[in-house]
Amino acid sequence: KHIAFAGPVIHSLPNTDLEILPSALLVINPAGTITTFTKSIPRSQVATAVESLDIPQDKITVHLLAPDQFLIPGFVDTHNHAPQWAQRGLGQGMQILDWLSAVTFPNEAKFADPAHARRVYARCVDGLLRQGITTASYYGSAHGAATCALADLCLTKGQRAFVGKCNMSRNAPGYYRDASVEESLRVTEECIAHIRGIDPEGRLVRHVLTPRFAISCDDELLRGLGAIAKRDADLPIQTHFNEAEQEMEATRGLFPGFENEVDLYESFGLLGRRSILAHCCYMSGYEMERIKQLGCGVAHCPVSNMTVGGGFMAAPVRAFMKAGIKVGLGTDSGGGFSSSILDAMRQAMIASYAREVASQGADKGLSIAEVFYLATLGGAEVCCLEDRIGNFVVGKAFDAVLVGTAGEHEGVMTMVEEGDGLETVFEKFVMTGDDRNMVRVYVQGRLVKGT
Ligand code: GUN
Ligand code: ZN
Repeated sequence: KHIAFAGPVIHSLPNTDLEILPSALLVINPAGTITTFTKSIPRSQVATAVESLDIPQDKITVHLLAPDQFLIPGFVDTHNHAPQWAQRGLGQGMQILDWLSAVTFPNEAKFADPAHARRVYARCVDGLLRQGITTASYYGSAHGAATCALADLCLTKGQRAFVGKCNMSRNAPGYYRDASVEESLRVTEECIAHIRGIDPEGRLVRHVLTPRFAISCDDELLRGLGAIAKRDADLPIQTHFNEAEQEMEATRGLFPGFENEVDLYESFGLLGRRSILAHCCYMSGYEMERIKQLGCGVAHCPVSNMTVGGGFMAAPVRAFMKAGIKVGLGTDSGGGFSSSILDAMRQAMIASYAREVASQGADKGLSIAEVFYLATLGGAEVCCLEDRIGNFVVGKAFDAVLVGTAGEHEGVMTMVEEGDGLETVFEKFVMTGDDRNMVRVYVQGRLVKGT
């Protein structure tokens, strides 16, 4: 069936400005693609406009949005660890390598049991969809069966996702690491084949090459992954990058031939347009220049930067944007205690204000329009999906959240008053809203939350 929505629509333009449309019309075809986007149409003309589309009446559902509702694009979480779903909130304030050893590795080891994995992953995928995250780039655990199960769940539940078997052949406990480089690469190939089997065109789910970080990979493993990336030019790649001083120092110790992480990952063929680099807290001028030239995207993870790891407010988000480096937001759930992209948007603002103060005003804080862009179109660019998602354009997929602020959707945080304009309501939603305000969620036109 076709679907039409008439009412307020808010989304980002490529220049990061918000486009606020109080009375728009969107029409979506049965394949989930936007076929009509009229930016301004009086309510009284909606019926005529829909009739003129020549779609039989029983083949189209028309939704007239209620006065408290508006549509926004679905959110993109560019960095998320599915096996850390149940450990969110644990180990706050620890240094990254200590947190991995004490909290994360013992937890992720449990995903050797596929039944455990399916149980937790089902909760994770449902949880993100409920919060309007229509696209997620996931790190799985090191286990093949669990990772394939995560991809299956994303597909059946209807979430757009990158799913990666986490590669880690060293500097992890014997009970939780790949038995050898060969094993690590073999399982990776199996996951790639499985995911191609269930979604041959990568319409919804794709495998993402996932060297956890250089510390957990031998040269040979990094080289092997680089060779797969070269062979399969459509596979995205993700890793942790210049996250914390403790991690950077350990990396230099393990790879004395490289002065920085750009040169390191690039030498193994892992940097390019498809690369999603998480954190990027400490970047030299040289590294900024290189990732710009290489076309890498940055997953800014402001919650975990402040709570585990130690990147604090160091990520130069404004400088990335000014330099034309692609940047999106990551919840980094569960290093990030929150899996809400709204929380990531707020925390990105807070971190940017701290930078503004520390730089005596030289580094301007981020606006609501800018963090909303990072959470939607910016994230789509980081995932090289900007032709398909991120904002509303004819020809793109309909990935969207219907936001409501009244009745059962009022929540406890947001209070909308009579006379509030659309922009005011939107601002209140971004700063105080939560999943209760997300009435319905759509991915590729399919309803994945709500009725
Ligand atoms: N570096 C290597 N693994 C991880 C992880 O699971 N979370 C974070 N935040 N950093 C990492
Ligand atoms: Zn991470």
